[in-house]
Amino acid sequence: SEQPVLRKALIAFSQNVILKQALSHHPLFLRFSRRFVAGETIEGAIQATRWLNDLGIAVAINYLGEHVNDEAHARGAHDVYCHAIEEIDRLGLQANISVKLTQLGLALSDHLCAGNLASLALRAAKYGGFVRADMEGSSYTQRTLDIVKRVHRRSPNVGAVIQAYLYRSVEDIRDLNHLQIPVRLCKGAYSEPATIAYARKSDTDRSFVRLMEMLLLEGNYPAIATHDDWIIQQAIPFAHKHGISPKRFEFQMLYGIRRPLQRALVEDGYRIRVYVPFGEEWYPYFVRRLAERPANLLFLLRHLLE
Ligand code: FDA
Repeated sequence: SEQPVLRKALIAFSQNVILKQALSHHPLFLRFSRRFVAGETIEGAIQATRWLNDLGIAVAINYLGEHVNDEAHARGAHDVYCHAIEEIDRLGLQANISVKLTQLGLALSDHLCAGNLASLALRAAKYGGFVRADMEGSSYTQRTLDIVKRVHRRSPNVGAVIQAYLYRSVEDIRDLNHLQIPVRLCKGAYSEPATIAYARKSDTDRSFVRLMEMLLLEGNYPAIATHDDWIIQQAIPFAHKHGISPKRFEFQMLYGIRRPLQRALVEDGYRIRVYVPFGEEWYPYFVRRLAERPANLLFLLRHLLE
């Protein structure tokens, strides 16, 4: 139950601009970030995708970046994703893309952002591809879902993400299931107040299982995004008991986390997709991964001190 407090403190600490400048150029930080980030260019992401595909693991490629505050940068991110979509098709990769709407201009205008997302969905549709809108901090939840729903009306190859720590998620899952919008369920990685989100890990875990069951029973190809053994051990018998074939859902995990578990699930006949981020803006993503697990941070601090 202390973990959310530590997570909040770490995220707040890492947002310090001076610290960010110092750490994001530190060689050890750069090296350790490679465990979670596939490199700064699309080539790194393609290489990681090939390696994972060879193991029977599909990929969601993410171009790191968020909170873009001018139209040119939003357009630039859109163009990088267009290139990624073309490469996935050209190289025959088992991959789709996962985008942050604030990188496509959500902070500037819903219209701009929805246009960029719709354009990516159309391109991906040409090769039977799929585009997922990641979920960010709670100030964007409603607008993100509204945009996904709007784009989904024309492009069914678009999906959403729901965070189990938010109290509102039960209603959101009901709504998305009703519309048959594919959902990725995750615990949630941002620092949120107790007025809107569970603060204790055990409450978030229970909420996850409840939402997961709703998705498995009534959702459209849900993605169960977690590295948590306890949750995976709830999902498998639940699906079995309700006659839900392993082809009707997938597990998702992050690049560099619990690789043996990823392989074991493939061997057991489950579908796995790994989220592979790349790009120069790796710092906020990397800090969220560190904040999730004190052991990661301690490992890094020990080496920094040495
Ligand atoms: P939990 O944090 O309880 O970890 C369970 C176990 O997994 C740990 O005991 C440890 O063994 C291992 N583990 C977890 N994190 C680790 C780490 N950083 N380093 C090493 N080991 C670790 N969030 C969000 O807010 N919006 C989003 O769009 C997404 N998208 C997304 C996609 C995918 C594919 C995944 C897997 C996750 C996300 N997330 C996310 C992140 C998610 O909300 C959550 O923060 C992390 O997945 C960690 O939670 P777990 O479910 O793994 O459980």
